[in-house]
Amino acid sequence: MTISDPKSFQVKSFGCQMNVYDGARMAELLEAEGMTASGEDEEADLVVLNTCHIREKAAEKVYSDIGRLMKRDHAPMIAVAGCVAQAEGAEISRRAPGVGIVVGPQAYHNLPALVRKAARGEAALDTDMPLLSKFGALPARRRQAPSAFLTVQEGCDKFCTYCVVPYTRGAEISRPFAAIVDEARALIDGGAKEIILLGQNVNAWRDGEGRGFDALLRALDRLPGLKRIRYTTSHPNDMDDGLIRAHEDVEKLMPYLHLPVQSGSDRVLKAMNRSHSADSYLRIIDRVRAARPDIAISGDFIVGFPGESEAEFEETLKIVEAVNYAQAFSFKYSPRPGTPAADMEDQIPAHVMDERLQRLQALLNIQQIAFNQSKVGLFSDVLLERPGRKPGQKIGKTPWLQSVHLETNAAIGDIVEVELLSAGPNSLAGKSVTPAKAGVSGQEVAAGLHKAPAVAGATL
Ligand code: SAH
Ligand code: SF4
Ligand code: F3S
Repeated sequence: MTISDPKSFQVKSFGCQMNVYDGARMAELLEAEGMTASGEDEEADLVVLNTCHIREKAAEKVYSDIGRLMKRDHAPMIAVAGCVAQAEGAEISRRAPGVGIVVGPQAYHNLPALVRKAARGEAALDTDMPLLSKFGALPARRRQAPSAFLTVQEGCDKFCTYCVVPYTRGAEISRPFAAIVDEARALIDGGAKEIILLGQNVNAWRDGEGRGFDALLRALDRLPGLKRIRYTTSHPNDMDDGLIRAHEDVEKLMPYLHLPVQSGSDRVLKAMNRSHSADSYLRIIDRVRAARPDIAISGDFIVGFPGESEAEFEETLKIVEAVNYAQAFSFKYSPRPGTPAADMEDQIPAHVMDERLQRLQALLNIQQIAFNQSKVGLFSDVLLERPGRKPGQKIGKTPWLQSVHLETNAAIGDIVEVELLSAGPNSLAGKSVTPAKAGVSGQEVAAGLHKAPAVAGATL
């Protein structure tokens, strides 16, 4: 049965933050068409699965989701968007005939037209990659949460040998400076206090006039009403002097850097086509820390890349020891169709990958807890982002991107002064204090210079 006139919709995004951004923009598009967003537990007429292709598990998930949707009494119109749509195209509808629409990440501005086509029972597929045209065709930004994503750069030319992103997102492009500043203003007008600039290689952003990413940060820093700026994800090769300096003197830029290294072995890095060495990565970290001593460093790791020996894996543990991460994401290598590494010899058995991942994550967890605990006893600015589970409780973020639970009457979107009382692996507990009581400037607080008196016995 074909739904001829979908009135309600749901967009489910998987994968990276850029997919979350794209999902929000698709929702804005559908609302501009007069459709209504359904709640989580409601059965919408149209379900958009905004998919991720990065690892096999992520990519396969879409088929189990489609199966579940097709079992409903009234199966919805199903659109597969995102990176699986780009990678598999028409193959998706062949494998899952219930899918009415397939739309790639660079073509989703055409979603309303595709919905109309599917409603007429026609094939609705668009995986074209027209450079930049989607942004110009999207409706204006609407009401925002306190922290909002903003895509400034998209695509990747780096071709790491394990990675699908250059194929699913296309070539590296930077959005124009003025378009980004305009969208940032709209986000702030809509209620955003923090903007997180997104790109697959966000620090590779540059424009036709020779401006680099640090110039963009400096321009956003001057926008009234904006309180915090973050960016992700960065490539080590694009960490230039200007950007490192920005961490020293751009006031609203938060002390947090996500800089994936993937492996600590130079042989593996070369086979991955990463174009940095373990040592050059460590030198960048040293320079960033010289610019901003309290910066929280985060990273991505892959264990079990083809041919990775035990000794090479131990070099990854060594680089983790050397950096001392505040947070990190680690994955078992997943062979992806069409990427060079999938055809490499000496694929690593699953049980070896499991064991290596466990050892790596044990070390990263120790570092993350230690980082969180190092903030206990400090006063910190916290941006309140959402209500907590208990009455009166709110959850916000420190400048170092840690979640903090606290009780306060302040509103979501406010930045409050918080005494950090205790820390667990994934969050901290705090107590709201007046700035006068804290008695220190925001800069000192963010730099972790001010110790509050120790509080005994506080737990999460
Ligand atoms: N552009 C970013 C992030 C890309 S995807 C960057 O270059 O760092 C996010 C992370 O997924 C990568 O950093 C990598 O750690 C992981 N990843 C990518 N492809 C993978 C694969 N085939 N198997 C396992 N992990 C992978
Ligand atoms: Fe993938 Fe490498 Fe590009 Fe990151 S830099 S998106 S890991 S190819
Ligand atoms: Fe996944 Fe595509 Fe993002 S593959 S990680 S959704 S760029």
